[in-house]
Amino acid sequence: MESIKVGLLGLGVVGGGTWKVLARNAQEIARRAGRNIEVTRVAVRDVAKARKLLGADVLVGADPHAVVTDPSIDIVVELIGGETLARELVLEAIAHGKHVVTANKALLAKHGSEIFAAASARGVIVAFEAAVAGGIPIIKAMREGLTANRIEWVAGIINGTTNFILSEMRARGLPFETVLAQAQKLGYAEADPTFDIEGVDAAHKLTLLASLAFGIPVQFDKAYIEGISKLAAEDIKMAERLGYRIKLLGITKRRPEGIELRVHPALVPSKSMLANVEGAMNAVLVRGDAVGQTLYYGKGAGEEPTASAVVADLVDVTRLLTSDPEHRVPHLAFQPDAMADTPILSIDDVITSYYLRLTVADQPGVLADLTRLLADAGISIGSMIQQPNESGTASENMADLIFLTHEALERNVNRAISAIEALPFVRSSVTRLRMESLS
Ligand code: NDP
Ligand code: HSE
Repeated sequence: MESIKVGLLGLGVVGGGTWKVLARNAQEIARRAGRNIEVTRVAVRDVAKARKLLGADVLVGADPHAVVTDPSIDIVVELIGGETLARELVLEAIAHGKHVVTANKALLAKHGSEIFAAASARGVIVAFEAAVAGGIPIIKAMREGLTANRIEWVAGIINGTTNFILSEMRARGLPFETVLAQAQKLGYAEADPTFDIEGVDAAHKLTLLASLAFGIPVQFDKAYIEGISKLAAEDIKMAERLGYRIKLLGITKRRPEGIELRVHPALVPSKSMLANVEGAMNAVLVRGDAVGQTLYYGKGAGEEPTASAVVADLVDVTRLLTSDPEHRVPHLAFQPDAMADTPILSIDDVITSYYLRLTVADQPGVLADLTRLLADAGISIGSMIQQPNESGTASENMADLIFLTHEALERNVNRAISAIEALPFVRSSVTRLRMESLS
């Protein structure tokens, strides 16, 4: 049977890895796909550099439009990244009847609705396993393996760069900038690493997971996003002392009022599975009503782990080429005409537990006032620590207070924090971190 012809856009970390894996495992892949999968055309900016990696049989050029419009190409693999050109190329490929494989979560989180609609109308597939959690087959699991379930929530560590930074800072005490530079060198970070650090990349991925879990349109603009750049080293240490680790989590949860969609650092119990996911590893926990909790763990970034997902999509598309479009697995797990319009909740409506740290003047009545204020806001205290603060003076002793609360409504916690910060004996702003037990 004739081989499947692939046009590759980009030959960087993921594109290079895809080329290598396809070449190294060509026979094994053909045995699985039923046909040879062959990269015949590549577009990059630096053509001379690309030629060194590719053989003489591959057509290499600097014009990606020439690849997506080439009549001989069956599948376009978009690994350029970014939104503008990538969107243009993916839509152009679809218009030319090509199936598309992409690792571009930014593109799909923002333009997924437009792209999937265009693909459905043209009867082609847009596959994106590599866009979420690198090499972990989480899209496949959610779109196919868990279809019997009503999904209740999905939570996970879905950005390798930030998990690598938090792990190295905690375990080796290395400074933030040093570890970020290492993550960039290892090929984990996005072209603009603020996407990683500020939680944007994780929110792109979480947006896709929420659509797959709940059958809602992709709504990146409604996600609550908080990164790790403002985390204080003392909170990382204090969390450890209290039996927790701080992780950047993506959480999406179904509630009767709507859907929580949030990315932020959170304290997780240090004995929990997620706390022990270290380095660039990713892990996604999915809770379904029938199956209970399932955990998916593996390398979330890097050359070959991500290529593993890209190639799996190539094999999937190859296998599906002969099935008629109406009977393929829907892009977002649910049939396009069965999508729900369940609202995404504001972060004020989130219910979780909290870690609150503040510095106060160490004088009588302080604790009584604080605990009364928390009680009045409907916030129940789980535990509390007081320790001397070294910056006290001869005329005023100071103390650090850490409260761990039971579950509370975020709106009430924010209101209580504003009231606390206005108290005359409070000497710092209140550091507020969310805590997730995920039980
Ligand atoms: P790189 O920056 O390593 O590679 C980008 C590639 O695109 C390069 O080969 C570059 O060519 C090419 N390119 C960029 N602009 C153009 C253009 N205008 N015309 C032709 N070629 C162009 O990126 P990554 O491989 O790291 O990432 C690619 C995608 O995969 C992104 O969407 C990213 O978010 C996603 N991803 C990345 C992961 C990772 O671990 N790195 C993991 C999961 C997803 P040249 O080299 O000649 O400049
Ligand atoms: N920059 C991303 C990360 C790459 O660090 O997880 C994988 O999507």
